[in-house]
Amino acid sequence: MAPNDEDPPKFKVSIVGSGNWGSVASKLIASNTINLPSFHDEVKMWVFEETLPSGEKLTEAINRTNENVKYLPGIKLGSNVVADPDLENAVSDANMLVFVTPHQFMEGICKRLVGKIKDDAQAISLIKGMEVKKEGPCMISTLISQQLGVNCCVLMGANIANEIAVEKFSEATVGYRGNREIAENWVKLFTTPYFAVSACQDVEGVELCGTLKNVVAIAAGFVDGLDMGNNTKAAIMRIGLKEMKGLSKLLFSTVKDSTFFESCGVADLITTCFGGRNRRCAEAYAKSDGKRSFDDLEAEMLQGQKLQGVSTAKEVYEVLKHKGWLEMFPLFTRIHEICVGRLPPSAIVEYSAQTPKRSSVGGPDSLP
Ligand SMILES: NC(=O)c1ccc[n+]([C@@H]2O[C@H](COP(=O)([O-])OP(=O)(O)OC[C@H]3O[C@@H](n4cnc5c(N)ncnc54)[C@H](O)[C@@H]3O)[C@@H](O)[C@H]2O)c1
Repeated sequence: MAPNDEDPPKFKVSIVGSGNWGSVASKLIASNTINLPSFHDEVKMWVFEETLPSGEKLTEAINRTNENVKYLPGIKLGSNVVADPDLENAVSDANMLVFVTPHQFMEGICKRLVGKIKDDAQAISLIKGMEVKKEGPCMISTLISQQLGVNCCVLMGANIANEIAVEKFSEATVGYRGNREIAENWVKLFTTPYFAVSACQDVEGVELCGTLKNVVAIAAGFVDGLDMGNNTKAAIMRIGLKEMKGLSKLLFSTVKDSTFFESCGVADLITTCFGGRNRRCAEAYAKSDGKRSFDDLEAEMLQGQKLQGVSTAKEVYEVLKHKGWLEMFPLFTRIHEICVGRLPPSAIVEYSAQTPKRSSVGGPDSLP
């Protein structure tokens, strides 16, 4: 039936990014847009073009097989997903934009998109990480909002992509600023029987949880690599959560305590400290006693996927240094110092010896 003027407008979704999580996000979204009347069926997915060892372009392979043969092999994305290597073309007619690339590429992507997106576009970021500028940290959702002039929500949670790809149940949190209706539309777009999404009015808190837990996961990997056992790992996770909350609240006084009990908070911290790629690479780093570089380990172990925790640890360290807060965050500080080889991996549990003024490994109790 042809649409008439009284039909409510349909939302058109484009996804910017097509790595491991980007591909799973496209599968979730495509399964909904094809069934829900308020969305156009087709979902465009921008692909950072690569040539596969066979000589075929990744985009062509995705459109031929309906699988991301490099970043999510063996999983059908949905016949309504169309891969597009042309960034501007991929977003030109969308009014719901999903950003899901490694965070270090976002500034360049935003620059290319200025003036190229629709006036009524809404955005959501699934990206974990931050940009550090002279004036302080800039969350990725803020970068998107400021550069593109759009409202930007975030979606974070205990979401190891490969588990969601095979439809194992998990939860996620949409963080939004003011408009509940917009948040509900994102919840609708992502929710499936195996992916339970709820909304939380704390965009900074949700995004900082997702970002900072990758730093704690590096410490969890060191603990695993050194066979320190479960109690030590639990201690590191507890201190990590405390520093996550403390730093988030110092940076943004609006951050809510309750956010840390959502999927984006403690649940994401747990899954990342047990299962994620940051933990895995840090374990290998500790096993090599810091002799192998993270760049080597990333290239060998992740095959094109990107490690976020080490760069985020550096960014967090720069923020702490700039603000004069290094002493207040001994775990975050130490993780970076180990990552850059200034300290050995075993230093992860040596706070009390190195910082005698502190009463315990947990650092000062003055954190908010
Ligand atoms: N994988 C997960 O389990 C998971 C879960 C939740 C959140 N995330 C977050 O999602 C975001 C994206 O991660 P992912 O897992 O989809 O990606 P990935 O690490 O699997 O893949 C890397 C992607 O970056 C692309 N790329 C490489 N060079 C590029 C360039 N110069 N410009 C633009 N893109 C380039 C690659 O083509 C590929 O699509 C990250 O912020 C990550 O922290 C990942």
